[in-house]
Amino acid sequence: MNVMTLPASSPTLKAKGLEIVLSDGLPHYFNYYWLRDNCPTSFSSATRERSFDIFHLDAAPLATAAEIVGDALEITWVGEDHVTRFPLGWLEQYKSVGPRLDPADKARMPWFGDHYPDVPRFSQPDLVRDPAIRAQWIEALLVEGFAIVTDMPDSDEGLTQTATLLGHIRPTFFGHYFDVRTHINPTNTAYTAAALELHTDTPAEEHAPGVQFLHCRANTVQGGYSLYSDGVAVANDFKKLDPEGFKLLSEISIPFYCEHDDYDMRSRQTVIELDQHGEVSGLTISQHMLDFLDLDQALLDDYYPAFCRFGKMLQDKKYMMTFLMKAGECMVFDNHRIVHGRAAYVAESGDRYLRGTYVDRAEMRSTYRALVAEGRFKA
Ligand SMILES: [Fe+2]
Repeated sequence: MNVMTLPASSPTLKAKGLEIVLSDGLPHYFNYYWLRDNCPTSFSSATRERSFDIFHLDAAPLATAAEIVGDALEITWVGEDHVTRFPLGWLEQYKSVGPRLDPADKARMPWFGDHYPDVPRFSQPDLVRDPAIRAQWIEALLVEGFAIVTDMPDSDEGLTQTATLLGHIRPTFFGHYFDVRTHINPTNTAYTAAALELHTDTPAEEHAPGVQFLHCRANTVQGGYSLYSDGVAVANDFKKLDPEGFKLLSEISIPFYCEHDDYDMRSRQTVIELDQHGEVSGLTISQHMLDFLDLDQALLDDYYPAFCRFGKMLQDKKYMMTFLMKAGECMVFDNHRIVHGRAAYVAESGDRYLRGTYVDRAEMRSTYRALVAEGRFKA
């Protein structure tokens, strides 16, 4: 008996869907609603959105016939003068359950305290000029969470221009940007000359901003070293050292706050953030914005030691990069992954001026996909 070349057999019609043998030689089941809803004619090439409205079908979609014609599956439907034609290669993408391939879903590369010479660096004019270099920059941010942009214009517009290469500016309760220099009446520890412990920014927001830009416009003071640690590297090691502590910090949310005369922002966040794969994707941590822990006092017997152990690890030289920012550089980093801080400096010893802003992580991923992928609905 001859073995037929696959796919050969006609699809088998069932009550609520059909079964078709695909290139792996195995039968795969597709639901009729799904097939009708995702018919290629359901989408507009102009808007790239679904123009078909399945809610307007009078009855559940049901195939009257389905056959393989050339390299496509053709389905005719009960009660509709409509033929759906799926290229088999297209169906192959959906034969197994799971989210569709995401080019922005990159494996993260943890880094350690000796990383500074290897930090990816990109010249600002190159980023503006060349989309391919822009894609490399975003890829570095997705994989390592930290990059330095050099040759920044010495202007407010230069920062806005750089940030909008990644996505729309994301305002916070500080507004569309913030200035870090010593203030006479500081509203934030960052606006003093004191040391600033390692933290992620604005954890009291329901969704803290995803990517931070810190544009160094001047830095001639004594001290003021920048401190950065990779939360992924630390949390992955913490998981091995203290699995119970890791569970507490990744599963129990704790309160953060930011309070002044005309705002009172509050949120609950887990210190360690996990992604859809269960991998560590980031942190939310800030001693200066941590509210009174309101967990059961007996639970605090376990929580606080784990929290402190983790906080000490963040500051360990094994993980912490220490360097001086130079005027004309812009630090760009994942605010949910990279903790940042600053050593104290002598306010009168010179000038120190940083201007910062944010873009959300989803905006960054969206820009990356648009730069590196073709998209599905182009005419
Ligand atoms: Fe900060």
